[in-house]
Amino acid sequence: MNLRDHLSHEVFRIIGLAAEQAQTEAYVIGGFVRDLLLEGGSASPKDIDVVVLGSGIALAEKVRQAIGRDLPLTVFKNFGTAMLKWDDTEIEFVGARKESYRRDSRKPLVEDGTLEDDQNRRDFTINALAISLNSENFGDLIDPFGGLRHLKEKIITTPLEPGSTFSDDPLRMLRGIRFATRLGFQIEAHTLAAIQEHRERIGIISQERISDELNKIMTTGQPGRGFLLLDETGLLEIIFPELYRMKGVEEVDGQFHKDNFLHTLKVLDNIAKETDNLWLRWAALLHDIAKPRTKKFEAGIGWTFHGHEFLGAKMIPGIFRKMKLPLNEKMKYVQKLVQLHLRPIVLSQDTVTDSAVRRLIFDAGEDLEDLMTLCEADITSKNERTVKRHLQNFQIVREKIVELEERDSIRNFQPPISGDDIQKAFGIPPSKAVGVIKEAIKEAILDGEIPNQHEPAYRRMLEEGKSLGLTIQQESGDGRGEAEAPAAGDR
Ligand code: CTP
Repeated sequence: MNLRDHLSHEVFRIIGLAAEQAQTEAYVIGGFVRDLLLEGGSASPKDIDVVVLGSGIALAEKVRQAIGRDLPLTVFKNFGTAMLKWDDTEIEFVGARKESYRRDSRKPLVEDGTLEDDQNRRDFTINALAISLNSENFGDLIDPFGGLRHLKEKIITTPLEPGSTFSDDPLRMLRGIRFATRLGFQIEAHTLAAIQEHRERIGIISQERISDELNKIMTTGQPGRGFLLLDETGLLEIIFPELYRMKGVEEVDGQFHKDNFLHTLKVLDNIAKETDNLWLRWAALLHDIAKPRTKKFEAGIGWTFHGHEFLGAKMIPGIFRKMKLPLNEKMKYVQKLVQLHLRPIVLSQDTVTDSAVRRLIFDAGEDLEDLMTLCEADITSKNERTVKRHLQNFQIVREKIVELEERDSIRNFQPPISGDDIQKAFGIPPSKAVGVIKEAIKEAILDGEIPNQHEPAYRRMLEEGKSLGLTIQQESGDGRGEAEAPAAGDR
């Protein structure tokens, strides 16, 4: 097969000529070739891996000279690789190598090798496909391990015996699951068995790399399948015990609860259809994470998971820390969604009162839309009528949200009366009473007793102060004014 027509980027010819001048050979290999055969490739690819029979660093320098521009070149002497950046395209050069590994390390012993040695050392046959950049056979596909057939048959398998490929570099077990998930491929039976067999070897991989692969699985179209494969291979129990513990169904007196692991994966796949937001997807994965720890069978009621949303929110920092996920506002966002994930559902089951919706808007703030998306994804009943009823109720909640927001501007709530206003009005220093009055005003607004406006809030402040035995010191012009101060939402 010749693919010259797909190598439209100038750099491929330039690399071929530079290799020829250096009396060597160069090939493009790996993800670029795989994606080109799958998707037809793009005119300005992002990542190109080039393998050279000789020094990758020396060829990278020659290519940079030939391009004749001052392009950034990063040399990694220890790895014998060099990275050239041409606009948005990163080209990595590496010398063809033969690798052998020791049991206790991912760091290989490396020696120079042929193109075939280099293809052999790669993770999967679909990543070991190479295309010649040399003038005598420019564009020829070099495929000693059936990678092209495996692409067509949608199979993930290794060039070498899979056990040695995974034992050499156990990260590849996760990469295999990631590719199977992203591409919708099957992992070939021996390859899958080898992952099962070598699963404990994942222990030599750093948490950062594991989480990086998990995040890549999370960003695919159907991440749930990735977690099923992690479970099937025994990796899930090792790298994500909290999720593993959600598996299974228990029965007491003929009553079953649903399998929370499978339910979670369904919610994750549901939400993946609605959003690319990685952290919203993480919230879906973790929303019921405390169910195993709160599970109880209560006579006359059945299975309950009381407070799992609060305990779940509490578990998030520990999970994020252990997984080396960011401990910043992303974590707080996931925590907040986990904690609030039952609120809209409860709302949609009862009659939807204004004050309950106002409180939801207040608590969820700018993440309200994401919370609603999570809750809709959480409806996984097989009974179509139940699903329909829930979705209809959610629609009512959404309409109420719009209506109340127009009226009350509760989102990003700013108190219409500040602590300073209260201190001045009653001539008191910062004290508990100030907080009590502020809280009473907020509650009155959320309950719909007064609108979110300065004038009525001021009147409520006077009443609350009076009931605390305070006397007015300084009447505010605003408070007595004839014209009502505009509410934020009226502006
Ligand atoms: N590779 C490998 N083993 C690894 C990592 C990478 O054999 N643990 C090889 C594969 O041939 C792979 C190539 O190095 O195709 C480039 O790796 P990388 O850039 O990480 O992945 P891509 O295959 O390019 O895929 P993507 O960019 O989509 O992750």
